[in-house]
Amino acid sequence: MDQTVRVKNTGLRGVPVADTKISFIDGEQGILIYRGYRIEDLAEKSTFLETACLLLDGELPSEERLKSFTDEVLRAREIPAQICESLALLPKDAAAMDILQAAVPLLAIADHEISDETREANVRKAVRLIAGIPSVVAAWNRIRNRLDPLPPDPGLSHAANFLWQFHGTRPDPEIARDLEVCLVLHADHTFNASTFACREVVSTRAHMYAGVAAGVGALSGSLHGGANARVMKMLMELQSEEDVAGWVKDQLDKGQRIMGFGHAVYKTTDPRAKILREMSLRLGEKLGQPQWHRLSVAVEDAALAELDRRGKHTLKPNVDFYSASVYHLMGIPPDFMTPLFAVSRIAGWCAHIIEEKFAEAQEKPALYRPESDYVGNYCGKMGCVYQPLRERRSAPSSP
Ligand SMILES: CC(C)(COP(=O)(O)OP(=O)(O)OC[C@H]1O[C@@H](n2cnc3c(N)ncnc32)[C@H](O)[C@@H]1OP(=O)(O)O)[C@@H](O)C(=O)NCCC(=O)NCCS
Repeated sequence: MDQTVRVKNTGLRGVPVADTKISFIDGEQGILIYRGYRIEDLAEKSTFLETACLLLDGELPSEERLKSFTDEVLRAREIPAQICESLALLPKDAAAMDILQAAVPLLAIADHEISDETREANVRKAVRLIAGIPSVVAAWNRIRNRLDPLPPDPGLSHAANFLWQFHGTRPDPEIARDLEVCLVLHADHTFNASTFACREVVSTRAHMYAGVAAGVGALSGSLHGGANARVMKMLMELQSEEDVAGWVKDQLDKGQRIMGFGHAVYKTTDPRAKILREMSLRLGEKLGQPQWHRLSVAVEDAALAELDRRGKHTLKPNVDFYSASVYHLMGIPPDFMTPLFAVSRIAGWCAHIIEEKFAEAQEKPALYRPESDYVGNYCGKMGCVYQPLRERRSAPSSP
């Protein structure tokens, strides 16, 4: 029986490529589940490190396991000095996602267990990445501002420590808890583009860091994790609510997309966006900057109305729409919003890499190798006859 699935030009929409036990999305109902737990429950009750442990281990940790996991993360937060020294040599105006992607192989080189491919060693590598990625992001913010990177503070939560290392001031506990919730919300999301990139790379038996570097690259794109920075740019350009309706119509008339809207899987509002919407309102009021939430709501209302008029009834705000104003209120500049996404998604990437490497949801490991249909019609299917350079009369026209 021919088992080739003939689906093309659809970005594999609706094509299951593997089984997973890590997360589940119901795109019609707007439901997201990690390892059996609803995202709303985890956002309210869990912490990022507990959620990361859940994603990696497959079950909520015992008190003892969470303590040992947290201790391992604390130990791994201090990245080798040579990494910061190497980053300091790079141009200060480099894109933060490029810096992060460049730093991942440096973390690999510093990992003494890099060639140990046991499951236990991969979990330890995951812990080092979960600890190391935020340290790299925070260090780059300091370095590019010509400041020294700061040592981690073991007394702070994962989110609070990131804010401390990033800004150089101890954060307000309520804001730190809000960031903790954001990290829980962004930690995993089934076979999104960056997670699939990670899984595809390690399916070749490349190491975890090679997969993560690919994931960072995929996340940087504006249709994926890069959307939050674009949403903030849009809000900053708009300035006033009066501009919104005309701007939205103009964008759509020009065939442009509204960033932070639409999703490959959700056909209703992303459940994470609902939590972030409420957070952006509360944080804006607390910090005396309610304008960002107001402006976001104005864009949401105008975009929903205009998209509805155009028959696009399923395009709703996604996770990136309200995370932009939330991160802005936390003092995160737009170009660090996507790196902050990676600070969280590293947990999901590592869980998926381990699941892929050890075939934890299917019978045996597989190398991803899809088919393509050859449509280049140069000299028919059997190919062209090679002509030596001097005998070629003119350059062939491009296909
Ligand atoms: C995320 C995204 C890539 C998913 O897209 P998708 O479900 O695969 O849908 P497609 O890209 O095939 O688009 C389907 C239609 O909806 C339109 N559309 C999708 N997202 C849109 C948006 N944000 N604004 C306006 N129109 C949009 C497309 O133009 C297309 O219209 P057409 O059928 O007339 O050509 C897409 O919604 C998008 O580009 N959103 C903006 C970027 C973003 O916020 N990304 C973060 C995702 S978490």
